[in-house]
Amino acid sequence: MVTRPKKILCVDDDVLNIRLLEGILAGEGYGIMSARDGETALRILEEGDIDLVLLDVVMPSMDGFEVCRRIKNDERLRHIPVVMLTALTARTDRIMGIRAGAEDFIHKPFYEEEVLARVRMLLKMKELNDRLTGAYDTITHILAYGKKTMEEFNPLHFNFSATLEAMIGSLLNRSCGSRSAPRAIFIGTHQSKNRWSCRLYRERTAPPDAWVQSFPAGAIDSVAPSDTLPVYYGNSLSDASSEISATLEAIGEKMGEIRNFVLSRGDDLCVCALNYDNMVSSFEASVLNSLAVQVLFLNNLSRQTRETGEAFAYTIHALARAAELHDQNTGNHTIRVGEYCAALARGLGIPEHQAEALRQHAQLHDVGKIYVPAHILRKQGELSRDEHSYIEQHPVLGAQIIGGHPRFAMAKSIALHHHEHWDGSGYPFRIKGEAIPLDARITAIADVYDALRNQRSYKSAFDHDTACRIIMEGNERTSPEHFDPVLLQVFNKISPQFAEIYEKLHN
Ligand SMILES: [Fe+2]
Ligand SMILES: [Fe+2]
Repeated sequence: MVTRPKKILCVDDDVLNIRLLEGILAGEGYGIMSARDGETALRILEEGDIDLVLLDVVMPSMDGFEVCRRIKNDERLRHIPVVMLTALTARTDRIMGIRAGAEDFIHKPFYEEEVLARVRMLLKMKELNDRLTGAYDTITHILAYGKKTMEEFNPLHFNFSATLEAMIGSLLNRSCGSRSAPRAIFIGTHQSKNRWSCRLYRERTAPPDAWVQSFPAGAIDSVAPSDTLPVYYGNSLSDASSEISATLEAIGEKMGEIRNFVLSRGDDLCVCALNYDNMVSSFEASVLNSLAVQVLFLNNLSRQTRETGEAFAYTIHALARAAELHDQNTGNHTIRVGEYCAALARGLGIPEHQAEALRQHAQLHDVGKIYVPAHILRKQGELSRDEHSYIEQHPVLGAQIIGGHPRFAMAKSIALHHHEHWDGSGYPFRIKGEAIPLDARITAIADVYDALRNQRSYKSAFDHDTACRIIMEGNERTSPEHFDPVLLQVFNKISPQFAEIYEKLHN
């Protein structure tokens, strides 16, 4: 384990006293720095990681009390213990030193044993204090990250892996150089039947190692209180109890050497921090527990978001299928239209989450046909003018069925406008060009392609090449002027994907 030697700053205008202190302390492996006056001492303190100050009282220009006061009034320095070097008889010096904030006193003349005992005790105190402060800072950071996640939470775009990666990455990078910080963090989430999805995050490396591995699932400490996760820690692998040794071995295969570990494990989640520079203790265990609880929270949020998303997709599909009940479209028309729309959107370079939303929402384009009498939808031969006008109401009726919920805004817009034509010859509003929402322009091409591929009362089914030719060149019912010319180009380029979708979802 590599640990930095503790640094002690000796401040005394008498060089003989400095030499004396150096002689006493050098044998203990401490790094010694010295200053002959207060200004130099404060400059050195601002520059480096000083762990302890031995400070003479009587010095030219700035005395030791003033130096001590300045250290204790500085937010960045006040945690460094100060020992004042006073004459045994100078009682008033001791009182003034206490007022200035000094932690301890060493009497002149120096006795080696006394100097070493006090220095060791104060360095130990500082180390514990540093670890406590570090733990507090890390817990605060984790809580702040949780708050930020909640404030920015969007169920439509929530990405568990990315959120987790950002949180762990910020923790590891933030604690780089800190002695009370791990070099790597492992997160395992239980998938099914002892299969765990594993990620190992290391300092400054992205993305993490990711793999799937088997080790036993289930809580491993039945005595742990139910509102916390059991935490284990150890300063060598031999400290690992039998319940967690398999997990640590799995991590060790990726990690290489494991010097120490803190591991928290629940039914479905394992969080393990590895290779701290210092020995690990209950401090590190408390911090890791906070992290584990936060990861557990994100994991639950992710699962619930996924389940809600699946329920949403199912509802859309069920409603779309209900609308198809009396339609002459062959089965899966709505699903195919959704897939064509997503393919066109991707071809157009629309972000994936929007293409995916379009795939779902376009399925509702004909939901207004629920209101169209079955005998009209199933009629063989040409429709009368009245029957036509009935059918032409389905976009407005569809929009009414979908209603005003913001999450269905895209579906509503598609239902309302998917029969509008680029040249203004469509219905219900005869709007043209970019006045027609893009999602509806995309759906229009998808809908016409699928109608051409299937048999209708007024036409037979066309093959892919014929359907494409009609869309690109027109026939007695369809004209290329009906479609957004940019989308037509994209369609022309990616039309083999339409053929694949049709073949796959034909029945
Ligand atoms: Fe329609
Ligand atoms: Fe349709």
